[in-house]
Amino acid sequence: MANFVKVAETSELPPGERMIVEVDGLFIALFNVNGEIYAIEDICTHDDGPLAEGELYGYEIECPRHGARFDIRDGRVLRFPAVTPITSFEVRVEGEDILINVEDVE
Ligand code: FES
Repeated sequence: MANFVKVAETSELPPGERMIVEVDGLFIALFNVNGEIYAIEDICTHDDGPLAEGELYGYEIECPRHGARFDIRDGRVLRFPAVTPITSFEVRVEGEDILINVEDVE
């Protein structure tokens, strides 16, 4: 069942920006790309690199540690050395509030 929780407000995350939030001990990176907001777990599946510190190319985040790339829209792997997708979260904006679906967060 969906479990949307508020993690930020839109005024905190203008287009082109990113931020990290914490939900139940899990660090989640939020990105605003051209007004659309995306949320991924901020841990690279290759070797736990801090993804939100990497460069963003369009919708591709590059891990600053060894250069793996993931699609921030769905978490899929786009470049070696990672082979496992990262977790991506469904995002909903209600008024000023940014909510993400954390149903799978343990
Ligand atoms: S930790 Fe991200 S590519 Fe190795």
